[in-house]
Amino acid sequence: MKIDGKPWRTIWPEADGWSVGVIDQTKLPHRFATRRLTTLAEAAEAIATMVIRGAPLIGATAAYGMCLALREDTSDEGVERAYAALLATRPTAVNLRWALDEMVAAVRNQPRDKRVAAAYARAAEIAEEDVAINRALGRHGAALIEAIAARKNGAPVNILTHCNAGWLATVDVGTALAPVYTAHDAGVALHVWVDETRPRNQGASLTAWELNHHGVPHRVVADNTGGHLMQRGLVDMAIVGADRVTANGDICNKIGTYLKALAARDNGVPFYIGLPSPTIDFTLRDGRDIPIEERGGDEVATMTGETADGRIETVRVVPQGSGVANYAFDVTPARLVTGLITERGVLAATREALAQAFPERAASESGRATP
Ligand code: MRU
Repeated sequence: MKIDGKPWRTIWPEADGWSVGVIDQTKLPHRFATRRLTTLAEAAEAIATMVIRGAPLIGATAAYGMCLALREDTSDEGVERAYAALLATRPTAVNLRWALDEMVAAVRNQPRDKRVAAAYARAAEIAEEDVAINRALGRHGAALIEAIAARKNGAPVNILTHCNAGWLATVDVGTALAPVYTAHDAGVALHVWVDETRPRNQGASLTAWELNHHGVPHRVVADNTGGHLMQRGLVDMAIVGADRVTANGDICNKIGTYLKALAARDNGVPFYIGLPSPTIDFTLRDGRDIPIEERGGDEVATMTGETADGRIETVRVVPQGSGVANYAFDVTPARLVTGLITERGVLAATREALAQAFPERAASESGRATP
């Protein structure tokens, strides 16, 4: 996607041919900054501290983290250590494990002197595959938006989204926002309701920033506004992303997604998931087994923003002495989902539809399923 006319991705190999550049998302929307990752430790830290975030981008960064690790140590033990270090960075987005498994498969049978090159080649493919998947997903989802637009006689289609599942959450294009960008670029009138997404405000900070740069009409709303908007007929459809989808179609996504799905069901609003296939976990039968990340209480107790004179400040919004809890994700049961927008078409959120659309993954992974 473009920033001020210049095309960017969220992650790229640097001109030196080995280090890795990323956009530092902790600085957005107030500053645009990039970072250079040069070691396994730096890659792991970038994922854990959310310099980069979003399930597909976590996967791509882990892939490049494995390349950086191999530059330091090409032994089997080194690969195992890097796998463990990167896997431990964040627990919920399954793209992390998927990408690491892909990287191990790419280097395992290579002689040690060929492993670094094999790793960089596979990491680059993973990044390209992410972009291709998201473009395809965008086309399938745009058809849904266009169908609603056709019934609205030129009035904008109102789409609610939660968190950031745009291009910043991926290598490029986005998942939930891919249909939005595709339809918008095709001239469909639309407007996006952006949930602010406390505690880290990925909606207010990142989704709004992206949509602004792309010229997509949008308004940021406080997290609790969605139900009211739906009751008043101000939402035509919801599209959100996912961090892990289990074999039966249960959806794990940013905390608060479940409440939006409940409100959508109560108000007859279609609720769609933008789902690239690496986010599917066929080893888990349903959403009860998904590990839900719990993050530090400071994310809830404080807020960070820009002061009127341009300084970035963090302020406390919870009284000293009050306890806080910070669950980063929740699970939306498949029964509340209207459809899964994947690179292979829009699917029902069912075990059968997922297995039929991705038979190669379902067959190989279900053997590792939890009892
Ligand atoms: O904690 P994050 O920011 O890494 O969470 C990921 C997300 O941005 C969302 O949950 C998103 O909807 C899924 S990732 C495309």
